[in-house]
Amino acid sequence: MTGPAAPGGRAASAPLLGSDTEPTVFELSVPGRRAWSLRTTEVPEVPVADLVPVAFRREDQVELAEVSERDLVAHVTRLSHRQFSVDLGAYPLGSCTMKYNPKVCDAVAALEGLAGVHPAAPPSLTQGWLSLLVELERALCELTGMAAATLQPAAGAAGELTGLLLMRAWHQAHGSVRHRVVIPDSAHGTNPASVTLGGYQVTTVPTDERGCVDLDALCRVLDEDVAGIMLTNPNTLGLFEEDITTIARKAHDVGALLYYDGANLNAILGVVRPGDMGFDIVHMNLHKTFATPHGGGGPGAGPVAVAERLAPFLPGPRPVALEPDEEGTARFGWTVPPQSIGRVHGFHGNALVLARALAYLLVNGGDGLRRVAELAVLNANWLRTRLRGTFDAPYDRPCMHEAVLSARTLRDRFGVRALDVAKRLLDEGFHAPTIYFPLIVDEALMIEPTETESLQTLEALAQAFERIVAEAAASGPAEAHAAPHHTPVRRVDEARAARHLVATYDARH
Ligand SMILES: Cc1ncc(COP(=O)(O)O)c(C=O)c1O
Repeated sequence: MTGPAAPGGRAASAPLLGSDTEPTVFELSVPGRRAWSLRTTEVPEVPVADLVPVAFRREDQVELAEVSERDLVAHVTRLSHRQFSVDLGAYPLGSCTMKYNPKVCDAVAALEGLAGVHPAAPPSLTQGWLSLLVELERALCELTGMAAATLQPAAGAAGELTGLLLMRAWHQAHGSVRHRVVIPDSAHGTNPASVTLGGYQVTTVPTDERGCVDLDALCRVLDEDVAGIMLTNPNTLGLFEEDITTIARKAHDVGALLYYDGANLNAILGVVRPGDMGFDIVHMNLHKTFATPHGGGGPGAGPVAVAERLAPFLPGPRPVALEPDEEGTARFGWTVPPQSIGRVHGFHGNALVLARALAYLLVNGGDGLRRVAELAVLNANWLRTRLRGTFDAPYDRPCMHEAVLSARTLRDRFGVRALDVAKRLLDEGFHAPTIYFPLIVDEALMIEPTETESLQTLEALAQAFERIVAEAAASGPAEAHAAPHHTPVRRVDEARAARHLVATYDARH
């Protein structure tokens, strides 16, 4: 139900919670309304025309919504109730590590002394920020077993591209012309995309029957044309690559570098380090592992840590600890590594994500981080064991932080596909798991419960999955095909939504 029409024919108030539609903020707009107020001062008003050079002035009118703070808050709050979030309940979206994040990390990121600083402020005014960045870099290097890191990349994929550019710079500096990067067929789509963007060709290696890289196949493609191998460990089947030290040795034997996609770092925190496995370049997804929920479209951070020999190539400028002053006070500044590949982000990356990550690391400490990994693995195995009779278990052995099951039999017997299970799960009050990834698993259901869910929540989630399967067995696929039934937006045509994306609202129509 919309409210009475306001002057100009626009709705003055929006539907209440639970309604099917929410107007856009432009539809709520009433000329002259403001969401801010400034007290009057003695300072004379300067006409905009005197402040902005002619060349930079707009010629047309900016069509901005005009709403009061009260209407705006109500609108945004209603919108927030129309979607599922990590703060609302379990979000077992495999490969994305959507875990509950402690609010203290947000409180730290909101501190005026951090959030209110202009990124162009000079080091003399930003010693606190610089010390934070230096401490974060040290902590990430310690956790991954690497020597140095850049905090600039904006997300995992940006970290991958940075890593590939580092790989390229390293080989060029050694006079070595190489064309190929090897990735397993279970890899995330960003891996081959980054390889291509980095100017290399992709060579794919198959997965063996245990769900790991097929070592014989890998050996057949490894030669001195290979610049590097990209792996995530545990891999996207949630399984630990047991031959990782052999793979590292074989890569290094042909002069290739080993790249670690840190998407699955949550599984091994404080237990084992990529550096000790033989990796040379490691990206981390701070927005998965360290306190900024991934997947909401907000900013992320994908720091890249490297072995000592690659540190001279890192993007710059990098924050560094300088010699203390005469009174022994610590001082910090910026440095550009001698053979730097250049900048990969404006300023210093998504700085408030970095602040949240350091808060998360300090709140948990070494023992706490190890416990994060242990509980993430325990929870995934609890669900895997519970559901391996309900769905197919293509790689039926203990997993790490996520369990990859399959709805193949459910599809073949009752016509219910992984997509239908995912949609029906929304009706049960849970977010859907990742589906159809990794690509090598037919009707894949990739379930990552994370360490933050209790045994009671896991039990409820398992029962929800079981109910969906029981419903299909008892009364066929109709309910699942029509799901979700109880969400504000029902089943959308995802292909059309992606192909005919309408990302802006045109107020003139
Ligand atoms: C295995 C893996 N690698 C890379 C990425 C890319 O990370 P981002 O989304 O931060 O770019 C993801 C994203 O979920 C992933 O699951």
